This record gives sequence, C-alpha cells and structure tokens, in this order.
Amino acid sequence: MAKICLCLTAKTLKRNLEILDKYRKYADMTELRVDCLEPDERLLIRRFPEQAGMPVILTIRRDVDGGQFVGGEGVRINLMARGLAFAETDRRRNFAFLDIEEDLDVPSLEEAARTFGTRIIRSYHNSQGTDPNLLTKIRSMRHSENEIVKISVRANSTKDVLHLLKAGKECADQEKILISMGHYGTYSRILAEQFGSTISYTSAFDEEDAPPAAPGQVDIQELTNLYHFRSITKNTKLYGITGNPLKASSSPQFFNTIFELEGTNAVYVPFPADSIVDFMEIANHLSLEGVSVTIPYKESVIPFLNSMTDEVRKIGACNTLILTPQGWKGANTDARGFSGSLLAFLSRENFKRQRVTVIGAGGAARAVIYELHRLGAKVLILNRTAGKAASLAAPYKFAWGGLDERGIARIEKYRDIIIQTTPVGMGSSGNPSDFADPLAFYNFSGREEVMDLVYNPKMTPLLKRASGAGCNVLNGYDMLIRQAQHQYVYFTGKEFPDHLVSRIRYGEI
Ligand code: ATR
Repeated sequence: MAKICLCLTAKTLKRNLEILDKYRKYADMTELRVDCLEPDERLLIRRFPEQAGMPVILTIRRDVDGGQFVGGEGVRINLMARGLAFAETDRRRNFAFLDIEEDLDVPSLEEAARTFGTRIIRSYHNSQGTDPNLLTKIRSMRHSENEIVKISVRANSTKDVLHLLKAGKECADQEKILISMGHYGTYSRILAEQFGSTISYTSAFDEEDAPPAAPGQVDIQELTNLYHFRSITKNTKLYGITGNPLKASSSPQFFNTIFELEGTNAVYVPFPADSIVDFMEIANHLSLEGVSVTIPYKESVIPFLNSMTDEVRKIGACNTLILTPQGWKGANTDARGFSGSLLAFLSRENFKRQRVTVIGAGGAARAVIYELHRLGAKVLILNRTAGKAASLAAPYKFAWGGLDERGIARIEKYRDIIIQTTPVGMGSSGNPSDFADPLAFYNFSGREEVMDLVYNPKMTPLLKRASGAGCNVLNGYDMLIRQAQHQYVYFTGKEFPDHLVSRIRYGEI
C-alpha cells in the first residue's frame, strides 16, 4: 500500500518537529526539506531522524527544481554528507532515504548511503511541464536496483496526466513515485496506488509557516479524513467528478462519507479536466466505475456513451456515467434532483397550473425545462442569447425571450415560480459579472416562489432581493444532494440508505 509522507518545510528543526508531532498519526514517514531551513539550522540536521521517530527522507531541493536551495552544488553535497555522517548501527537513527536528483553524480555519497542502509530516491523534476520521454526516464534513471525512481512533473493539461499514468503502467514492476504537479494532477497524489507510486507527498495546510512543498499537494488531514487514503488499494472502486474549472465541490465529501458509513470499499475523487476526450481515456485507464459530470461537459460527454437513459436522450445532457460491461451508460440525475427539491419545497405533487419563468438555456436549464414540462407547468424561458432560449423552447412549445427589458416584462404572466439556472451569482470565477443579479430589471411582487440552482453562496444577489421582497426562496443545495442520492443508486446499484437521509437533511453529512 502507498505510504503517506509529510513534507516539512518550516524554517527551523524545532518547528518541524512540532508540526510532525501534531500530524504524526496521519503520516508513515516524513521528508525534511533542508532547503527550507535557515542556513544555521541546516548544519544541525544529523540528529533529526532520531528526534522524528519515523523514517525520514533527506532532501535539499534546488531552486531550479522548485526548491529553495540557491547555494553551490559543493555546499549542497556537503550538507547531504553531513546528514549521512556518523552513521549508527541502529538504522532508525539514520536518514531512511536520501533524495538525489538524476543529474547529480556523486558516487562517494551514494556509496555512503548504500553502506549504511539509506535508500536512494533518484528524482527528476520539471516544474514547467511533462516531458515526452517519461517512460525511458523511469526505466533508465536508477544507478542500482535498490533505488526508488521519483518523477515529479508539472501537468499543464489532462493529456500530461494521461502521459504519466500510461508511462507508470508500462513500468508496473518497478518501485517508483510518480507525481503530476499542479491542479490537473492532484488526483495522482490521492490515487498513488493506481498510478503505481509507493509514496504520496503531502503537507499540513493549517501550518502557515510551513507552506505546501509543491503545487497540487493535498492536505494531510484531507488525504486521510476525506479520501481515506490508507484504505485505497488496487481493489478499491473508483468514482469521481469531472469538469472545468472544477470548483470546490461538495460531492467528494458527500460520497466519501457515505461510502465510509456503509463500509463500501470505494473512493470519490475530483478529476479537473481541460479535455473530455483525454479525461475519458484516463477514466478507462483507471477503471473508474462511475463519474459525475459537470460544467462544461454535460453535452460533450454524450458521444462517449454506449447507452443512455430516456432522460439523457430527451434532455440532451448527461451528468452521470456508469460503467457497464458494454461500456459507459449515461444518466441525468439533475432532472429528478431538481423536481424532487422544488416540489418538496412547495409541498406539491406536480407543476400543473403553474406558470414558471426559467432564466438561462444551458445544460442545467435543459434538465429543468424537461421536468417542468413532464410535470405539467407552462414555461417562459429567458436567456442572454435569445436564440438559445428559442431553440430550447421549441420542442415543448414554451414561450421564450431575451434577458432584456422586453423579455423581463413578459414575466408578469409567468410568475408563480421563477427559477434561475445560470452560473451568474456564483461569485467564484473572479469575473465581475459574478455576484450579479440576472433579473435586475424585475421587481418581485413578493408572491413568487424563487429558486436559484446556485448553492454557493447560499443566498445569491437574486435570492436576497427576492427574499427582501417577501418571496419564499430556495437555493440549489437540496437539489445537489438529491441528484447525488440518485447518482449513488446508479453508481452502486443499491438503494440510498434510508437511515442516512435524515442525517443529510440536518447537515451532518
Ligand atoms: P450549465 O450547464 O450550468 O447550464 P452552460 O450550458 O454553459 O452551463 O449554460 C450557461 C447558461 O448561463 C447559459 O444560459 C448562459 O447564457 P448564454 O446562452 O447567453 O451564454 C448563461 N450565462 C452565463 N453567463 C451569463 C451572464 N454573465 N449573464 C447572463 N447569462 C449568463
């Protein structure tokens, strides 16, 4: 099973030991990043393994490799030698590993390490990108059999992660550490076992004076408590969510908590992806069993489906992939999640005799419109691009308009319920149009029931204004949970555990 290594990047040894003590229970080993220590402290590293009381990797990372060491190579080699000096017969008092970059050739140092049982991690770093020749590197970097090859390369795209994953698979027989650094590669650290890595490097994000040692690292507590890293084996069923940009999502928390409570050997991981084509190849390589699909891939994923539910066919959007023996099956749980949530909120069975305005005509709106039609509502669709509202409305014979004064004036006849389906109001992309109110021209009478599919923030500007005018308002959180419950059923083939429903409602999960 892959081991968890806590990287220690504080400026003093004392502080590193404090941090190590605080997170000891999460770590199997630790890496002393000597390059992050103050110069005087670097001279005192020899006793650190004994003080640490667990296997320690000695690493002095150069600035060119993403570290902080700017001195000459002579000084660096000297420091490494200092770390290995006065080796003791009790190996727990020596450094367990020495990280040596592939281009550093100091036979005497390697000889000393080998003699006293310090294993060499032969590392290669590229903080700019992912090299095309990784396979050759992995195969040829070792100077002796007992070394562990470490490849740590920046993933600028999903294709880069795929490249590393494939290279790792080709060398399944070899002990190694493979890391795709950065946002796109974060899951290479969670799924270390699947990537064929023996160690996952983590940091303690709560400790501000010991910043994460590399981009894309996962917090050590999150790795253990959210992803249950120690339980991930080759037999663990893998699920996840893909999208771009994949913002902080509640889905990993939801699924991983339920898997744990149910004793299911499964993990649910975020897969940020800049290409659905490359992601689907990764999904196949990792043998994912199920995937939640979010913006912007709900439509572009459809060509990858071998079969689909009626809802996917009619809505034209898919948010759930399930692996079947024949290939991927697509489902749409947004639709039932939406109607279940809104009907419960309104204490209704259906939308008959309800006149409803829907803002937006994207993937989310498509599921909403499908359900409103199925359950008997009369609908007006308003969208920034009026043409898209028109084409969405046509098959249902619904009314449509632009998101302008004229369109908004038409709401008067469709205002029992108003549903906002665009990402406007989400406020997470840094775009000034976020936090905006897409219905700014419209004055609420106070009698409308208003739903915003956005759930973060809990109250969008639109909901705040509607609530201020006396309307009942509902955000998208309950819909999210309901659609995830449907996804759970698709993913596992089991009923959603009844005893967990009330805990979800009370926000315990
Ligand atoms: P989703 O799957 O979340 O629905 P989508 O398919 O990309 O995402 O659709 C986004 C919807 O939000 C569209 O209706 C889009 O309007 P356009 O069709 O005119 O692009 C709408 N939208 C996005 N940003 C918007 C903004 N700043 N103001 C108004 N509408 C916006």
